[in-house]
Amino acid sequence: MDFKEKSIISIRDLNQESLREIIKVSSDVKKGKYKNFLRKKVIATLFFEPSTRTRLSFESAAKQMGAEVIGFAGADYTSVKKGETLGDTIRTVSGYCNVIVIRHPVEGSSRYASEVATVPVINAGDGANQHPTQTFLDLFTMSEYFSDFKNLRVGFLGDLKFGRTVHSLAYALSLFGSTIWLISPEILRMPEFLVDELRINGSSVREIDNLELVDEPLDVLYVTRIQKERFGDFQEYMRVAGSYRITRDVVESLGKDIKIMHPLPRVDEIDPEVDEMENAIYFHQAHNGIPVRQAILGMVLDVIP
Ligand code: CP
Repeated sequence: MDFKEKSIISIRDLNQESLREIIKVSSDVKKGKYKNFLRKKVIATLFFEPSTRTRLSFESAAKQMGAEVIGFAGADYTSVKKGETLGDTIRTVSGYCNVIVIRHPVEGSSRYASEVATVPVINAGDGANQHPTQTFLDLFTMSEYFSDFKNLRVGFLGDLKFGRTVHSLAYALSLFGSTIWLISPEILRMPEFLVDELRINGSSVREIDNLELVDEPLDVLYVTRIQKERFGDFQEYMRVAGSYRITRDVVESLGKDIKIMHPLPRVDEIDPEVDEMENAIYFHQAHNGIPVRQAILGMVLDVIP
């Protein structure tokens, strides 16, 4: 796929080959193959929802390669507060930058932004829908430990209904035919149409509510936070809050080679005692946001061949 001047909105717009290309370029960037390639570029980061990793890693990634960064974290001090529409905001900011990175609570907002923008738009998370650049860094991190995604056995644990990182990553892994275990409370199961997509793409998918029911060794356990902010009913949240807790004993029961991943932030689903274990790779995963987002910016802006 040619990424030049293309928006990055959904994993569904990509195929196995383009995902491999992103991993390869990210690896080259991480090895230091390209220097200062974002010089004279302006990156706009428009975050209508809270973020630590995605916004700061995009901004750090851009600055380390020579770019200028503009934008906001929270729209309270922008003209959105005066009633400006998303469309007008995007049309305006398009004239100030070379690429827009947007996070917004409404599903489909990034797609809409890409339709009205005159520069490429990168989806940094739209509601419970998609988070493609998180998937790129998740796949890149997995590629550092596993040579082949086809034979990978991945368990997704936690909030599979609202977790956009899971929706994107599970879809991406299904393009490679990975084996997928979906482990969640009944009310937080992955939407059925998404599960159907995984199977159609070629993955074996099992849905269960208890980690102990996994009857084969997993290579990766991808733990997620229960997304409190997306529940309409607080009582419903309270019914599932704290459903899972990964402790040192749980990790040891899963085998010595298992990798524990998490998009972060975590609340209480992984005990901090796990952080010291070699199996825990979630902070390494978060740090890979730098080379991966540099690669994406370079590819979209056509400054990396
Ligand atoms: N993984 C992730 O999207 O983290 P932030 O919400 O902190 O950006």
